[in-house]
Amino acid sequence: MAGSVSTVDLFCGAGGLTHGFEQAGLPVKAGYDIEPACKFPYEQNNKAKFILQDVEDVSGSDLTEHFSGSSIRVLAGCAPCQPFSSYSN
Ligand SMILES: C[S@@+](CC[C@H](N)C(=O)[O-])C[C@H]1O[C@@H](n2cnc3c(N)ncnc32)[C@H](O)[C@@H]1O
Repeated sequence: MAGSVSTVDLFCGAGGLTHGFEQAGLPVKAGYDIEPACKFPYEQNNKAKFILQDVEDVSGSDLTEHFSGSSIRVLAGCAPCQPFSSYSN
């Protein structure tokens, strides 16, 4: 792939998507999630840093900092699980 790539994973949970990115050769700079229990498995199984923060509070400058120096910027956000969706019944 031409250029350097940086990825940020929103709603990263325990890091399944991040792990897939890393296995595919896409470096992940950070994952954001509000569940503290996700930090250990996320960082144990991935190189990326876990950031305990509501995505509502993530600013453009936070993201710019993660992407600094990268020509290709990947911002990923997974679909919410049923408990987080208003469509669950
Ligand atoms: C589907 S799970 C994540 C699965 C993860 N992407 C993976 O591949 O393993 C959804 C996650 O969203 C997180 N979440 C829900 N609302 C959030 C918010 N406002 N800010 C950050 N994380 C949030 C939950 O704590 C949960 O871990």
